[in-house]
Amino acid sequence: MKFFVDTANINEIKEANALGVLDGVTTNPSLVAKEGVSFHDRLKEITEEVDGSVSAEVISLDVAGMLKEAKELAAIAPNITVKVPMTLDGLKAVKALSDLNIKTNVTLIFSANQALLAARAGASYVSPFLGRLDDIGHNGMELVAQIAEIFDRHALDTEIIAASVRHPVHVTDAALNGAHIATVPFKLFGQLVKHPLTDQGIEKFLNDWNNQK
Ligand code: E4P
Repeated sequence: MKFFVDTANINEIKEANALGVLDGVTTNPSLVAKEGVSFHDRLKEITEEVDGSVSAEVISLDVAGMLKEAKELAAIAPNITVKVPMTLDGLKAVKALSDLNIKTNVTLIFSANQALLAARAGASYVSPFLGRLDDIGHNGMELVAQIAEIFDRHALDTEIIAASVRHPVHVTDAALNGAHIATVPFKLFGQLVKHPLTDQGIEKFLNDWNNQK
């Protein structure tokens, strides 16, 4: 399973990239709004930092508007992936963009049927939102497992991005349940690395080294 970082903050992206485990970036309108910068300028900066897929979301809800925005976003850099919401118009846009060889990430996926339709329309990625399903008492991970099984059984090559990831257990379970990618908030990298026995082990090794006879 690959790792994307879910942020529009350039310092976080640079730090995550320096870890050597970063395969891409996802952004959304809420994350970009927090930054208070020009969307296009920031995307340019991100695509210069990261070689992998950089998801940038359209704001329009109609096909014509989505396609216009998508073409502008795709012109920023070859590694832009256009993020499109899961709607009827979104599906039409995904089909048209796939015919133009523009990569798409269908976002706000909350059911296996939505993921299947997105894949059939030609989506490069689907993003099931685990945390938001868990928040309302559903099981986000079951959705990832269902999508993985359906894509496998029907030989669909759309990649599954486990999104709305909130904690380390989500990451392990996403990997076990067949997600191709987990997009994680920057702070999660620190939580994934941390283990009390690792810290204790380092402390003991250093103490023993310093107290050698
Ligand atoms: C992914 O593409 C989304 O930007 C993100 O994972 C949403 O996460 P949230 O539910 O924590 O806002």
